[in-house]
Amino acid sequence: MEKTLITYFSESGSTEEIAKIIGQSLEGENVEILPVSEVKDLAYKAVIIGTPNWYGKPTPQVGKFIKKYENQLAELPVAFFFSCMDCYQTKAQPENVQIFCDRHFAEQMITTPKVSSWEKSHATTTYLTNLKEFSNKLNLKSIAFFKGRLEFKKISFGNALVMRFICLINKKIKQGDYLQKQDVTEWAKMLKF
Ligand SMILES: Cc1cc2nc3c(=O)[nH]c(=O)nc-3n(C[C@H](O)[C@H](O)[C@H](O)COP(=O)(O)O)c2cc1C
Repeated sequence: MEKTLITYFSESGSTEEIAKIIGQSLEGENVEILPVSEVKDLAYKAVIIGTPNWYGKPTPQVGKFIKKYENQLAELPVAFFFSCMDCYQTKAQPENVQIFCDRHFAEQMITTPKVSSWEKSHATTTYLTNLKEFSNKLNLKSIAFFKGRLEFKKISFGNALVMRFICLINKKIKQGDYLQKQDVTEWAKMLKF
């Protein structure tokens, strides 16, 4: 039976946890879960890629993976997920790509023309545009946004400094573990390759 690859980078563990929940939720599927650094080839029937959101983008590790396997990823069905602290849906939805937001973001819509730069940079459409900068050939079927984890003790000193600053200027962003297993399972069960 052909395998589905779930691959990810994770610094403080939430993206890895999401990858494992997806693996458990894809009952009956032959699944392999690997960090992007351990992927040797793309001999799979489908690929699910997960990344923390770093400044609106996949991390450099995931970006490197996408670029390296750009041609193979263009031929395989791909689902993508971000573990992030914030996300806003827009009215205009891209064609052919399913968008899924977990319960933290499901009600967050950008509706008015007056949009803050934070909201703009955390819009689902901006995430998609940024992702396409790594490859515009991705055969993307679905993209999901899950609120993950922010724990200064679990990330590098430099990253913790940046995130402490972000928390200072945006009081909405606070340390904590926000992951909702049920929502991850719901998305995984919706995936059809
Ligand atoms: C360097 C850095 C930049 C980040 N930038 C953002 C950001 O712009 N917006 C956001 O919502 N979260 C941001 N985050 C928070 C992470 O996306 C979030 O903590 C994520 O759940 C971490 O995933 P992990 O547990 O797999 O490492 C950033 C975190 C780091 C370390």
